[in-house]
Amino acid sequence: MSDNAAVVGLQWGDEGKGKIVDLLTADYDVIVRYNGGANAGHTVVVGDEKYALHLIPSGIIHADKLNVIANGVVVDPVKLLEEIDGLATRGVEVGDNLKLSQRAHVVMPYHKTQDLLMEAAVSKSRGDGRKIGTTGRGIGPCYSDKALRTTAIRVADLYTGDRFREKLRHIAAVKNAMLASLAAMADEEFEPINAELLADQYGEYAEVLEPHVCDTTPLLHGAMADGRKLLFEGANACMLDIDHGTYPYVTSSNCSSLGMYPGSGVPGGRVGRIVGIMKAYTTRVGGGPFVTEQNNADGDRIRERGHEYGTTTGRPRRCGWLDLMVVKYSAAICGATELSVMLFDVLAGFDKLKICVGYELDGRRVEHMPASAEELEAVTPVYEEVDGFSEEITGCKSYGELPDAAQRYIELIEKTVGVPVGIVSIGPERSQTLIRR
Ligand code: GDP
Ligand code: IMO
Ligand code: MG
Repeated sequence: MSDNAAVVGLQWGDEGKGKIVDLLTADYDVIVRYNGGANAGHTVVVGDEKYALHLIPSGIIHADKLNVIANGVVVDPVKLLEEIDGLATRGVEVGDNLKLSQRAHVVMPYHKTQDLLMEAAVSKSRGDGRKIGTTGRGIGPCYSDKALRTTAIRVADLYTGDRFREKLRHIAAVKNAMLASLAAMADEEFEPINAELLADQYGEYAEVLEPHVCDTTPLLHGAMADGRKLLFEGANACMLDIDHGTYPYVTSSNCSSLGMYPGSGVPGGRVGRIVGIMKAYTTRVGGGPFVTEQNNADGDRIRERGHEYGTTTGRPRRCGWLDLMVVKYSAAICGATELSVMLFDVLAGFDKLKICVGYELDGRRVEHMPASAEELEAVTPVYEEVDGFSEEITGCKSYGELPDAAQRYIELIEKTVGVPVGIVSIGPERSQTLIRR
């Protein structure tokens, strides 16, 4: 086993990965993003400052750490440059401490158009309920071009001058035809791609980004050979994983810990510590099954206390009770060696709390996470009802200071999932973190 570690979401995203990456960064040397793109929104709170990171690893707030956007990420240069500038204006220097893989794929404006038109077309032909509810950041279209190959652009392509321009002309011809059909189907307008303009614009972005661009694979292997420790930062979450999540209501990358290896070029077996991040309850943004969803006063209370509105899109998040079927499944897929239970403070003040410990379908217990979204929609939760805790816990300084009922809640998670809870988070600040063992 090695000293490298990963932080990965075990639910449907927004579990508080940014906070834990920021906390753990002190013990690591290189922070690596391996999947997703600007669909992610990771929040780091340091005193009065709040940073929302989308593409840049959350380690950037610490000076002297290397941050790597590896090959598995899809990078929107406009968003990346905005993020670099935004950090600079707040005194966070982004220079040699940020590296971007030549192999990463580039999100282009037409990917965002395609993302939005695709959702509109689905809504038109199959109804609103069939929409994925994407972030509109062009993630799915960019990853599908990666798989298609001839219409893909990698970071390295931006530096090939006329060959890049020529490639864009071909892509514009293919995409304009495709976007026109989608637009007609969705009954929407779209602006055709102007390849020459895009080639000029993206050539300029490439020039600004050039100092960051390199082959990050040998960089990571070299860092490991030098005894430097890597911390992988998962974006999105296991239930949004394209293979293991609630397909098709997922994102387009392997956002479980399994995506680390293809997404960075670091082989399996080199990451010994996998920290599974989970909220003390459940949220989800966008469409798809959500067994423990509470469309009622309990869900509203969680949303308001937890400020459950998207970091990336501002959408209200769907809220519900903790679903341990989900966490147990994700912890197994991700190989979680420990759990961090986040936003625990949000649950203070409920008389009773419900925890889903199983599913039933047609009166029978469901043993495994259903593979189909339709089947998951149809299951009913089996709840264990436990005592709540009335006192606010945001000021607790140690795990032992938590009310008894709160400690029992954590212990029930641990027992049901079969993985130790190492961290309990009781507020967004670094100091509001209880380390258990
Ligand atoms: P990520 O995508 O997993 O990094 O999570 P987000 O940043 O999208 O959402 C988590 C939100 O919860 C952020 O606003 C955090 O500042 C906040 N947060 C993290 N941990 C806690 C906690 O223990 N309690 C409370 N109240 N908020 C927290
Ligand atoms: P972080 O890293 C929450 C969801 C979207 C949508 C689905 C597909 O902040 O936890 P996409 O734009 O990726 O094609 O959308 O996935 N989704 C997220 N939800 N947090 C995220 O990231 C998400 N990234 C994608 O809401 O349902
Ligand atoms: Mg988020």
